[in-house]
Amino acid sequence: RGLRRELSNLVLIGMPGSGKTTLGRACAGALGREFVDADALIVQRAGRPIPEIFAQQGEAGFRQLESECLASLALRTGLVIATGGGAVLRRENVAALRANGTLIRLLRPLGELPVEGRPLSQGSPLEKLAKEREPFYATACDHAVENQGSIETVRDRILEAWN
Ligand code: S3P
Repeated sequence: RGLRRELSNLVLIGMPGSGKTTLGRACAGALGREFVDADALIVQRAGRPIPEIFAQQGEAGFRQLESECLASLALRTGLVIATGGGAVLRRENVAALRANGTLIRLLRPLGELPVEGRPLSQGSPLEKLAKEREPFYATACDHAVENQGSIETVRDRILEAWN
């Protein structure tokens, strides 16, 4: 990437429950960086929780909000960013995130993905979702890292891939 390493955003992508938020925090702690959870930013801007956004504005409305939040985050540098599981569905989101960052995909066995409080995972079987999403994650990521082992182990694996 063109950006110097110390400025480049570390962006985590992957299925809901793959560990993006937990590991994003851990990476940010290790790097002494600011951590931003894109979903939290969406909730903050919308002033209501994600299930409510889905219920009131549908997935399309949520995706629009998500794109706006990701676009503004992607303008910043030196961040660790955890994205929502559907962030890579729009090409414009991927392009924006790539401009200032490196995208790292977290891989976690399907059976270990939690599903509570996540509208899409609940609405459709996880396996089907994973299949549909596979090409998006595979195309968007610069590196893929297995989320297996302790948080510290996986964190170090991510930082190694990112470096
Ligand atoms: C979604 C994943 C969620 C959240 C929203 C939609 C998805 O984020 O953005 O419910 O489409 O996969 P997590 O991946 O953090 O659960």
